[in-house]
Amino acid sequence: MDWMKETAQQLKKGAFLMVGGNPMTIGWGQFGVLWNKPTFTVYVRKSRYTHDLLLQADTFTVSVPTAGAMQKELAFCGTKSGRDVQKMQALNAKLFHNRFGAQDGFDGCRYHIECLILFRADLDEHALEDETLQSRYYADGDPHTMYVGEILGVTEQTL
Ligand SMILES: Cc1cc2nc3c(=O)[nH]c(=O)nc-3n(C[C@H](O)[C@H](O)[C@H](O)COP(=O)(O)O)c2cc1C
Repeated sequence: MDWMKETAQQLKKGAFLMVGGNPMTIGWGQFGVLWNKPTFTVYVRKSRYTHDLLLQADTFTVSVPTAGAMQKELAFCGTKSGRDVQKMQALNAKLFHNRFGAQDGFDGCRYHIECLILFRADLDEHALEDETLQSRYYADGDPHTMYVGEILGVTEQTL
């Protein structure tokens, strides 16, 4: 299961959450088993354009770059909003056609994790036990919504 190990490592630097052709850099993500299905969970703040896109979507795809690669793209997609700029076009990047019916990925990444949304929930920041974390992450509000996706399939792209 190299893809799990590499994804867990790479999330520290970032991966792309793909919805409707808009790439958003994410640093949080979890593998797991829920309702006896293999899952990947992502966390998206309400202010993100990706949050709006997810309201209409029933799938998402996480595209994971090779270690050390795509730093410019990760920085761009982690600071620019799809509301203001068509990020794939601005980066001259291409979509990687989905293999399992979820969203198209970010071409040139090592892994594409395709997910079907099983569960969505707004996180209640007041339920965080640690007040330091609460003030560090939610001083200005803007809570996360969690999306639990059933992993439909993972593609290793030949680069
Ligand atoms: C390394 C890194 C990790 C990030 N992780 C997340 C995350 O897990 N969840 C989130 O809501 N925003 C995260 N962000 C911020 C979004 O990527 C950023 O606000 C982005 O511009 C939103 O794009 P959008 O408006 O097109 O959705 C991260 C940014 C960086 C640079």
